[in-house]
Amino acid sequence: MREKKKKNLIDIKDLSVKEIDDLIKVANDIIEHKEKYSHKCDGKILATLFFEPSTRTRLSFESAMLRLGGKVLGFSDSASSSTTKGETLADTVCVVSGYADIIVMRHPKEGAPVVASKRSLVPIINAGDGGHNHPTQTLTDLLTISREKGRLDNLTIGLCGDLKFGRTIHSLITAMSRYKNIKFILISPDELKLPEYVITEVLEKNHIEYIETNSMEEYMNELDVLYMTRVQKERFLNEAEYVRLKDYYILDKSKLETAKEDLCILHPLPRVNEISTEIDDDKRAKYFEQAYNGVYIRMALILKLLEVL
Ligand code: NCD
Repeated sequence: MREKKKKNLIDIKDLSVKEIDDLIKVANDIIEHKEKYSHKCDGKILATLFFEPSTRTRLSFESAMLRLGGKVLGFSDSASSSTTKGETLADTVCVVSGYADIIVMRHPKEGAPVVASKRSLVPIINAGDGGHNHPTQTLTDLLTISREKGRLDNLTIGLCGDLKFGRTIHSLITAMSRYKNIKFILISPDELKLPEYVITEVLEKNHIEYIETNSMEEYMNELDVLYMTRVQKERFLNEAEYVRLKDYYILDKSKLETAKEDLCILHPLPRVNEISTEIDDDKRAKYFEQAYNGVYIRMALILKLLEVL
């Protein structure tokens, strides 16, 4: 039996600031010198176990492993797996960890990747657990912010939309709170405010400046980064409540009137209505670059967890 590996990425805090900065360096090097990395994972297999829908996260991980010379297997719909026969997540992961060298998983239950990591023989990467965390999206966001702004400190960051259920928001706040002089403008309807535990355990504990507001326009002129999010339909218990809130914020040209010339507009995607397509041609719109960057930072992460670098 293989030696049990200890390296996982369950929560963004599993990585130190130095490790994150190193991953960003490697990702930037991959962008510049793709060919240097094309055989680094020859003979390695990445498994994707997706118990929830995904386009970018799963395909960018697959693309990342293929671009490193490795191979991929897995499922994108748990209905086609033995979960439907009643198999536990722990058993599924225990078995798949004998078939692959690294596992990427997405699951609707918060904490599921922790359970998985206890039974896995190989590294586990959390690709989203319910409304909780999404650390690899955060790595993508950090790479994009650092490439676009040239820094990860001294930034005013507007986070807009579903701050309650948006797992990308929770992980991004946790990560950015470790850099110097960060200020958050938390823009949401009252029903979708940032959870209390993030406020107390992350923002207040680290003495991070933040403002909560309902208004997208009020602080627009201060923002260096505007991170839009989709209202997370799948987390609502009440459909009518979702319908009432889903179009609460729509970013269009008129909303950007007071925005800085070098504002960086991000969105983890998929977008529904929250960014008008008229913004796509604005030079400040960086959400497609953000999606492309996901491949390179995931390549860097795979190399790190497989200890190839
Ligand atoms: C996000 C997610 O799954 O949390 N998508 C992604 O991974 N890029 C955001 C979302 O679904 O709204």
